[in-house]
Amino acid sequence: MNFIGSHILSVSQFKRADIETVFNVADQMIPYANRERVTRVLEGAILGNMFFEPSTRTRVSFGCAWNLLGGEVRETSEVKASSIVKGESFYDTARVLSGYSDAIVMRHQVEGSVDEFATASRVPVINGGDGSNEHPSQALLDLYTIKKEMEGRGKQVDGLRIALIGDLRYGRAVHSLCRLLCLYDDIHFSLVSPPELKLPSIYLDEMKSHGHECLESAQLQSGIAHADILYVTRTQEERFPSKEEADKYKGLFRLNQTIYTENCEPNTVIMHPLPRDSRGDARELDDDLNENPNLAIFRQTDNGVVIRMALFALILNVADQVEKTARDVNWYTAGRFSSQ
Ligand code: NCD
Repeated sequence: MNFIGSHILSVSQFKRADIETVFNVADQMIPYANRERVTRVLEGAILGNMFFEPSTRTRVSFGCAWNLLGGEVRETSEVKASSIVKGESFYDTARVLSGYSDAIVMRHQVEGSVDEFATASRVPVINGGDGSNEHPSQALLDLYTIKKEMEGRGKQVDGLRIALIGDLRYGRAVHSLCRLLCLYDDIHFSLVSPPELKLPSIYLDEMKSHGHECLESAQLQSGIAHADILYVTRTQEERFPSKEEADKYKGLFRLNQTIYTENCEPNTVIMHPLPRDSRGDARELDDDLNENPNLAIFRQTDNGVVIRMALFALILNVADQVEKTARDVNWYTAGRFSSQ
């Protein structure tokens, strides 16, 4: 695909070569994310970071990624802080905000809303999550993490055995990741969920049509055996008709150190798009795994920065110029970045 000036709305836009392009640029961004180097390549550019649904990592890491490239960020983080509550359409909002920004990231609870917004926008729009539909930048950072973790274990993405656990019906991170993995060969999916929260057939059919193995079950222990990656998800309670309905599914699948040790092969990677629900009735990913070296959740969040920097650099056509304006940092840095 031609990244320059493009909207990023769905992972269906990508071919495998595009993913490699994003990952190569992301690798180049590591010294900047790690605060070894500083670049001003987007100096003067403004990002409209429009979040109409709760977000911590996606919102802040998109903002940081833009800042690390030298640009400024303008942010709306609540629907009630924008004129959408006064009845303003996505069309008008997009026409207005695209006059103020060089790129826009948008999250909204309505499926398809970001596509509608992008149609009216005069600048590139990145989907930061539209309802239970898609979350393309999350899938890219997840796949980048999977690739690094597999390479560190002498394996690759082709042939991957991945167990996806929890709310596969409403989880947009899962939906985008399943689609993205369709670009690779011979993937073995173990889909562990309550029957009511199974992966929608639109994704399942796509995975099967690519020849991937898809085993559905409601059994955690057998579902996670033999996997290279465990991808645990939270019950997406905000998508359910009521909290009572969502509560029925909380705590059904709980991964902890004991279950991991008893059922998984050594070095099985544990991932979660976060937030994990740490409340007593949920705890789908127990804190007792925090010291497990195979827990990759904070490597995922670190990788989100370089992936989002790469998307901006490609869309705004500055990937080749980043180094031109760069210098070493001159403040104390902790060397915090952990891509692997
Ligand atoms: C995910 C999301 O918002 O879809 N979070 C994220 O962006 N990292 C997953 C979730 O909220 O459970």
